[in-house]
Amino acid sequence: MEQIKRIGVLTSGGDAPGMNAAIRAVVRTAIYHNIEVYGIKRGYAGLIDRDWQKLSTTDVSNIIQRGGTMLKTARSEAFRTAEGRAKAFAHMAAEDMNALVVIGGDGSFRGAHAFSREFPVNIVGIPGTIDNDIKGTDYTLGFDTAVNTAVEAIDKIRDTASAHDRIFIVEVMGRDAGYIALYSGISCGAEDILIPETVTNVETVLQHIAADKGRKKLMRIIVVAEGDDFGGAQALQQMVQQRFPNLEVRSLVLGHIQRGGSPSCFDRMQASRLGYAAVEALLAGKSGLMLGLHEWQIHYTPFDAAVKQNTMIQDELLKIAEVLAL
Ligand code: F6P
Repeated sequence: MEQIKRIGVLTSGGDAPGMNAAIRAVVRTAIYHNIEVYGIKRGYAGLIDRDWQKLSTTDVSNIIQRGGTMLKTARSEAFRTAEGRAKAFAHMAAEDMNALVVIGGDGSFRGAHAFSREFPVNIVGIPGTIDNDIKGTDYTLGFDTAVNTAVEAIDKIRDTASAHDRIFIVEVMGRDAGYIALYSGISCGAEDILIPETVTNVETVLQHIAADKGRKKLMRIIVVAEGDDFGGAQALQQMVQQRFPNLEVRSLVLGHIQRGGSPSCFDRMQASRLGYAAVEALLAGKSGLMLGLHEWQIHYTPFDAAVKQNTMIQDELLKIAEVLAL
């Protein structure tokens, strides 16, 4: 294997709290090993446009606690093409940059996979997405912060729902995955949790509401993932209101607020671990892999296996959600 000369680091796809902490860890670990690091702007687009800057230890000062990503992020159409990737490689080669750390989701790893097969670039990935839906890792950066943001919001909704005896339907993020819905729903004592991984039977939800009336339970929180097969919060609100015209039903979409904010301690810790391990992996000759966590240990998954995974929801959690909502 060719010796690592310079490392590029980029963030790609949807941002996630903890990305900055991971960038900081990559930069400082590389500098510790006397290797220069370049921060690539706007994901793969920055490789194609040669938009990067050398980063020093102080360039990553004061970012561990910040949401978003200091490098900015994007989804690059050009990098999906062979020409785009060839241009990116030419720019990297001219700069003696022969290694990359890609922080992003499954789409980012698909790009990394193609790139690492076509060109002599050593690439490792760090899973960063609030959706927690990548195969090969038990956890993705940003999930913990996002789910805590959702919990904080739903707790507040519960106060007002209770004060007015209302039904509230809260839509959380997760285009393909129900992790945020399930974790926030269980943690907030939601009465129903609707996720894309299971087929939603809206009649069951309506029966639960009817049963509430019978036992004089006056408020109810329903958490629905954005990608649920029945539709989002609004569709459900209409259906519930139609069936129970005398109940007060409200809905809200938490939206991108879940993607921002200061990362939790857990996200900062894992970002620091994964950023450090990513550089160590490159120096040990590893490439074409996503680093993740499995049973709390660093775990490596080849890029082509690090795909979107929305079937990992454990039956145990679904059962807990059902039983505790009684
Ligand atoms: O980051 C993942 C995610 O939050 C999904 O749950 C959501 O559907 C998507 O990003 C929305 O991303 P954007 O608004 O950037 O297209």
